[in-house]
Amino acid sequence: MNNKVCVVSGSSSGIGAATVELFAANGWHVAINYSRHEEPAQQVAQACRAKGVEALVHRADVSVDADCRSFADAVEARWGRCDALVNNAGTTRFVDARDLDGIQGEDFLKIYGVNVVGPFQMTRAFAPLMRRNPGAGVVNVSSIASKLGRGSSIAYAASKGALNTLTLSLARTLGPQIRVNAVAPGMIDSSWLRQGLGEARFNAQRDNYAAHAALSDVVQPADVAETIYWLAAGAGKTTGELVSVDSGFVIGKI
Ligand SMILES: NC(=O)c1ccc[n+]([C@@H]2O[C@H](COP(=O)([O-])OP(=O)(O)OC[C@H]3O[C@@H](n4cnc5c(N)ncnc54)[C@H](OP(=O)(O)O)[C@@H]3O)[C@@H](O)[C@H]2O)c1
Repeated sequence: MNNKVCVVSGSSSGIGAATVELFAANGWHVAINYSRHEEPAQQVAQACRAKGVEALVHRADVSVDADCRSFADAVEARWGRCDALVNNAGTTRFVDARDLDGIQGEDFLKIYGVNVVGPFQMTRAFAPLMRRNPGAGVVNVSSIASKLGRGSSIAYAASKGALNTLTLSLARTLGPQIRVNAVAPGMIDSSWLRQGLGEARFNAQRDNYAAHAALSDVVQPADVAETIYWLAAGAGKTTGELVSVDSGFVIGKI
């Protein structure tokens, strides 16, 4: 079998769906993952198969180690290889940063379980399979919230900061066979923020974001997928790096 294999957690919508579709368009077989809603995952799989590749749909909650291990077993049984792993699944709670009593320790633990422990468990589960293909790449989906200390909640921003540190640790631990990098998307035009903020607040934040970003725009899921693809499939001498895909929001306008 000559096709390379890409596994993307949380790939039934948004950045994850755009990512598997880009890998599929480049001839990779893809493993699509969700934790709750199967139907959108099946639709993404159909779109990938229409590009002439194989697509596996697998339910797994990345915060549950047994789910991550059975996901890796399923990919090994189907294709016997994994050339790219994208830890994209993420969660949050929308809480105003001024409302310190609005967020509890349990919220931190739940968010860390998916956003930090999940990528660790997925990477550990897939590493033995990835070591068989030197140059294989892991890409963690972080956020500019990790650089700014702001975003949907304090717990979310802190979890993405922890994910950046995890990226550094794993890059060192898994070299020289496996490269580990991260992307930091800015404001994405996707259902995550539309649903979390509501349509009116989403539109106001989008306009405000574009007014401050050097490139005067928000970011589309396909823009992030492009950078993920480069880090996973190319970038042969790059590991332990965090690449922003934020339309220049962090650097701002002149
Ligand atoms: N949207 C933004 O503005 C933005 C900005 C910066 C960074 N990010 C990051 O980008 C990533 C994707 O965001 P998105 O906006 O594309 O999200 P999205 O459209 O809401 O998609 C989230 C995906 O993750 C899955 N998922 C959620 N919890 C999971 C779990 N525990 N285990 C496995 N899968 C799970 C969801 O499927 P089910 O619902 O079926 O589980 C879905 O496939 C996240 O890590 C997020 O933090 C987003």
